[in-house]
Amino acid sequence: MLYSALVSTLVAAASVAATGINDFSCQSDSNPVVLLHGLGATYYEDLNFLQDWLQSEGYCTYSRTYGAYDGFPFVGGLKPINESAPEIASYIKEVVQKTGSSQVNLVGHSEGAFQTLYVPKFEGVAGLIDRIAAIAPPSHGTSFAGLYDLAYIFGNASREAVGDVLQDVGCAACNDLGPDGPAVDLLNNGQPIIQPGNQVTIIASKTDELVTPPETAFVHEAGVRNVYIQSTCPFDPVGHIGEAYDLNVWNLVKNVLDDTPNRSFVCLAGSPGK
Ligand SMILES: *[C@@H]1O[C@H](CO)[C@@H](O)[C@H](O)[C@H]1NC(C)=O
Ligand SMILES: *[C@@H]1O[C@H](CO)[C@@H](O)[C@H](O)[C@H]1NC(C)=O
Ligand SMILES: *[C@@H]1O[C@H](CO)[C@@H](O)[C@H](O)[C@H]1NC(C)=O
Repeated sequence: MLYSALVSTLVAAASVAATGINDFSCQSDSNPVVLLHGLGATYYEDLNFLQDWLQSEGYCTYSRTYGAYDGFPFVGGLKPINESAPEIASYIKEVVQKTGSSQVNLVGHSEGAFQTLYVPKFEGVAGLIDRIAAIAPPSHGTSFAGLYDLAYIFGNASREAVGDVLQDVGCAACNDLGPDGPAVDLLNNGQPIIQPGNQVTIIASKTDELVTPPETAFVHEAGVRNVYIQSTCPFDPVGHIGEAYDLNVWNLVKNVLDDTPNRSFVCLAGSPGK
């Protein structure tokens, strides 16, 4: 009795999680999920653990490094926002076309979260997107120091190697996302940020040390849900980087993808502080 229940559980689990990430033959009841990494990161750093977790929860997940310069494939997100955005838009189109789904859901962290807002507004793909979970987007800009820190923290290779990349190609995205950076000003140009049909949730941590003050991540427009992690998990001290690796955040993302904003889950106390 118990044994057969166990076997059927395993079989059920296997049928949703039969394939790995970035598999266009993956089948799920939910929209394909496209994940957008942060500054200085790649698709296999930053949101990779969240991607694996979502995949194991039965979603079909897709990601690719964007905004990397030729010759420096290990440090993504450095190109100007308006050069990365078309790359991301064409990837969204590719995922829609290859999976046969009519829409995707987007999950982004940091610069990737900024792009989940920027791309639908400027790249003509809003109709291909249903739900958006934006984790700590610098929606209204953040400090240069913070941005360069991000490139250093995420960049594979040593601080020295990342320094070489920044020296050679610079960090146009850092400039774009700084206070009154060109991309920040464009996103906040007086026209609505949120596009019709997109359901957006912005997730921020009160203890974010890089997007400061953390409240600047939020977008105050109709149809946006702005949530602090600590409203659900008051004792989570998570910082900007840790948000990508925090099971509490992952559960909040799952609630966005499932449109179950009030589903409760057990908060983990020992989440990473940074
Ligand atoms: C793209 O953004 C940069 C700022 O990062 C700006 O200098 C450039 O003119 C923009 N290009 C276009 C085509 O708008
Ligand atoms: C990290 O970057 C180096 C080049 O600096 C590259 O050879 C290596 O494969 C990269 N490692 C990963 C895990 O991407
Ligand atoms: C979630 O809870 C809020 C506040 O308690 C309520 O206003 C909202 O309707 C609920 N949403 C759903 C989808 O149940």
